[in-house]
Amino acid sequence: MPGLSGPSDYSQEPSRHPCLHINAKEPFNAEPPRSALVSSYVTPVELFFKRNHGPIPLVDDIERYCVDISGLIETPKKLYFRDIRMLPKYNVTATLQCAGNRRTAMSITRKVKGVGWDVSAIGNAVWGGAKLADILELIGVPKLTSCTQSGGKHIEFVSVDKCEEENGGPYKASIPLSQATNPEADVLLAYEMNGEPLNRDHGYPLRVIVPGVIGARSVKWLDSINIIAEECQGFFMQKDYKMFPPSVDWGNINWNTRKPQMDFPVQSVICSLEDMQSIKPGKVRISGYAVSGGGCGIERVDVSIDGGKTWMEATRFQKTGIPYIADGISNDKWAWVLFELTVDIPQSTEIIAKA
Ligand code: MTE
Repeated sequence: MPGLSGPSDYSQEPSRHPCLHINAKEPFNAEPPRSALVSSYVTPVELFFKRNHGPIPLVDDIERYCVDISGLIETPKKLYFRDIRMLPKYNVTATLQCAGNRRTAMSITRKVKGVGWDVSAIGNAVWGGAKLADILELIGVPKLTSCTQSGGKHIEFVSVDKCEEENGGPYKASIPLSQATNPEADVLLAYEMNGEPLNRDHGYPLRVIVPGVIGARSVKWLDSINIIAEECQGFFMQKDYKMFPPSVDWGNINWNTRKPQMDFPVQSVICSLEDMQSIKPGKVRISGYAVSGGGCGIERVDVSIDGGKTWMEATRFQKTGIPYIADGISNDKWAWVLFELTVDIPQSTEIIAKA
């Protein structure tokens, strides 16, 4: 693609915050300390987790950078960066979470393949960009379409990074056309993160943001969009990020029997404490995050200080001064809620949160 290219080695990686805990150096995968997540509702860019499958692409010439849109539509189109910036701009506050979040802890129960993550493969940001539904309308696909006249049912996003899992080919993923053309699904082609142009790690110059869905579908460094009949056949849709019952292992797995994971499940994590920590008995403030996929909101977060025998409800909040109600209209529906509760800890115990 003119304007944007994917290097084949790691000699031109951007610099990163020294606080990040590095889970894999090449490709670069890192997460912030868990305390950073509850320090602010919107996660600072430099502390936002970085999840990559290849070297970080480079923009040679932003004037020449464009996204090719083709496939099962009447007229293919090239959209330059300036064309995308001319469209109405939306700011969507959305939590991005990698499906591999908490993999290290899961591996204690049963070994999980892939990069290990603590609880911070997640962050909340304000993404600024054009709505995919507006862009598709520009090329003749009306809002709320689930199938184009030529049989297109999915929208595939293709990048330029060189990924080992794709045998050196680019990262790609797809979402259903019905979601892509639904303005209320808030799917963005984002060029800003927290009010600043995206940085290289997070997809400069342009990335997809699919709110409420596992991070794997929010393709960074967007190169082309294809309207296709079946979902994307790439590795990360077909051979990864799927859920299987416990009877399946690496010896008997049949990938075709399960759909790719999309909306993420309810998740809650205590971030003010480490998994094993010594603290003095007495009053302790417990805080963390809770999030649900699909924009469903969080109805309740409970905390137990006796290993799950009894529970107390925690306070949930997003913005200061505005009470959080799970389906309230002033909520950020795609974003996490932070929770807190002050408890009296008498002795050594197990503290648990559930949402
Ligand atoms: N897009 C490209 N092109 N290459 C990637 O490796 N990783 C995906 C997604 N988009 C990835 C990508 C995964 S698995 C996640 S969780 C998110 O990007 C992470 O986004 P972030 O690094 O901005 O936090």
